Parts: sequence; C-alpha cells; structure tokens
Amino acid sequence: MVKRNACVFISGKGSNLKNLIEKSRNYNFPIKINLVICDNEKALGLKYAKLNSIPYIIINTRVSNYENKIINILRKYKISFICLAGYMKILSKRFLQNYKKIIINIHPSLLPKYKGLNTYSKIIKNKEVKTGCTVHHVNEKLDGGNIITKKTFFLSPGDNENSIKLKTQALEYSAFPEAIIKIFRQN
Ligand code: GAR
Repeated sequence: MVKRNACVFISGKGSNLKNLIEKSRNYNFPIKINLVICDNEKALGLKYAKLNSIPYIIINTRVSNYENKIINILRKYKISFICLAGYMKILSKRFLQNYKKIIINIHPSLLPKYKGLNTYSKIIKNKEVKTGCTVHHVNEKLDGGNIITKKTFFLSPGDNENSIKLKTQALEYSAFPEAIIKIFRQN
C-alpha cells in the first residue's frame, strides 16, 4: 500500500503519538509518520520521535512568522496529512488557507460538548453521565470541524478528573487510528 506522508503535532506527553507510531507500522495502515512538530522543547513525547528515528522539529511559537516556518517544513517533508495529538496551539485561518491538505484533531470530549480547554473539570461540573473522545477535521472554528469518529463511556460515581482522563485516553488509542482508516476508506 502507498502510505501518505504524515506529520504529528504534539505539545506534551505524546501517548497518542506513541500509539500512532505503533499502528503505522502495520502494512495496511494508510499513513507513515515522517515528521513530528512540537511547540515545547521539554515535551516528553519527543522521546517517541527519537526512539523511532522520526525527524522532529521544535517550533518557537513566540516568533511572529512561526506558521510560515511550519508550512515550509511540511513542504520539505512532502507532508500531506496532519494529526494534531495534544497540540495545544490553535492553527490560524491563514495557516489553514495555505495548507490545503487534511488536518485532523483528537479532543477529549464528545464534541460539540466542551470545546477548548479544561474539558474534564467541565464534565464533572456539569454532572455528565457519559463522556468520551472525538476525532474531527480541523477548520477555522475551534474544535468545530466535521466529526469523523466518537467513542463513548459512562461515568462511574467515584470518577474524578484523573480517572476520566485515563478512561478517555484509553478510548483515544482506538479512536484516532480508526478515524484515519475511515478517512482513507472514503477516498
Ligand atoms: C489527549 O487526551 C488529547 O485528547 C488532548 O490532549 C491529550 C494529549 O495526550 N487534546 C486536547 O485537549 C486538545 N484540545 P498525549 O500527549 O498523551 O497524546
């Protein structure tokens, strides 16, 4: 199978990056991870790029033209698919207009509920009975693009932010690869 050249954007722990790297070793998985972009030089997730000899680039988002730099790097590596996996910066309208290929994001709630930050505390505050994760296309609206896959679980009485996070992330590790497979099945 001819795999798409993909880039994973991260900011932190990188457990989704680790999972995608593992899944992408499968001959039938539609993407190959050729590059990791990170806005945080201390991100723990960079170790997965290093361990797997995947080139990684740390982008200083304090400089004004940093998105142009990202676009140039994506061109250099011939990237035609982007996975945002815990990347905590918002891509600008200009970036999205310049980079016309597919960008998807994973979010730790059942969108359209609880867009943005502090998802788990909002879920507890609102006494939700169920939650989950969503993989969606990225557009100009925060966490607002077309939904590709959602996975749900029911909350237990003793759940707290930490347990919800663990349960949500366990679902993310199947949701993200499934969403990627679904995209290429449709095309
Ligand atoms: C994931 O749970 C992802 O849903 C969330 O960050 C975590 C990254 O974990 N993303 C967002 O909150 C985006 N708004 P990881 O670094 O271990 O993959």
